[in-house]
Amino acid sequence: VNNGNQELIKLHEDASKLYHHILMNTEIGEPSLKYLQARGLTKSTIEYYQLGFAPKNKILEEFFKQKNISTDLLRKSGLFAENDAGNLKDRFFNRIIFPIKNNNGSIVAFSGRVFDEDNQAKYLNSPETDIFNKRKVLFNFSNAKDEIRKQYSVILFEGFMDVISAFQSGVKNGIASMGTSLTNDQVYQIKRHTKHLYICYDGDAPGQNAINRALKLLQNSQLKLGVIQMPKGVDPDEYRKQYGEQRFLEYINSAKESPVSFEMQYLKLNRNLNNEQDLAAYIDDTLKIIATMSKPIEREIYLNQLSEQFGIDKKTLVIQLNKIDSF
Ligand code: UTP
Ligand code: MN
Ligand code: MN
Ligand code: MN
Ligand code: MN
Repeated sequence: VNNGNQELIKLHEDASKLYHHILMNTEIGEPSLKYLQARGLTKSTIEYYQLGFAPKNKILEEFFKQKNISTDLLRKSGLFAENDAGNLKDRFFNRIIFPIKNNNGSIVAFSGRVFDEDNQAKYLNSPETDIFNKRKVLFNFSNAKDEIRKQYSVILFEGFMDVISAFQSGVKNGIASMGTSLTNDQVYQIKRHTKHLYICYDGDAPGQNAINRALKLLQNSQLKLGVIQMPKGVDPDEYRKQYGEQRFLEYINSAKESPVSFEMQYLKLNRNLNNEQDLAAYIDDTLKIIATMSKPIEREIYLNQLSEQFGIDKKTLVIQLNKIDSF
């Protein structure tokens, strides 16, 4: 790491300490601390993740000016927005701050969450900088590394609160791609530490679509894949809030299914299987998945299921399957 990057990291570490102090120890931070506690986070979890609060009245610019930090460095940090006149203003204000660490554990970016619901984006993230490459960073990866090796597996969540919720419940091998689609760079990082990856995204439509996309990206990764499917409409953090940490832990450990079983469920979404056209399309898509299975027994099991479920002669299914095979 070169000196310029060290300086940028130092800025982030200092800003993080300030945001954290405001959250934990000041009156201005009280509503946001209450908010986090109302969501069920303990003080020790908040400490572990060094969560913070960026107040409405912008403070960072003044804070760094007093420390005689050059405008040029501040500009490069991504912590400020610049107006047309070239003046720097704090990027984050009136938001709860989630520090984002690189894979070595240094803070290189922040994400800020609104907490008194405005009509703004829920999370605002640092832009790309010399020290923050979104495509390479995975939230919580530096914290989880050891546990990922110990447990021979990693769990990939969508969001910050899902990872943090999981951590507080005892699931310490969780990481997040932070909303954006998983990248090959991130997969490379993961593969250096384990062979087993479980995807645990939200149980809403965007979450299901994202699982489908992630499985496609991962299919040639040589990782052993599984899906931890959330109940409909619920994300992991909401599950923990609703059912408690013990049941969350049990759910995460027991709800693992294969990518194929996920795909078969996924193909049913947005289709009305009482409609003949939709049903025919569904069965056709399902047979395409079965066609990729190399084990005859596996094929047999799924063909039997399809046949029973929809009352279709198995011979007919096999005829259609063989048509797919010949391509
Ligand atoms: P979600 O929309 O599922 O939010 O986005 P969440 O994580 O459940 O948020 P909470 O529980 O209400 O706090 C999943 C992830 O996508 C990224 C964030 O990393 C978020 O955790 N995201 C989401 C953004 O970067 N910007 C956004 O505006 C929304
Ligand atoms: Mn502290
Ligand atoms: Mn989501
Ligand atoms: Mn969510
Ligand atoms: Mn959530």
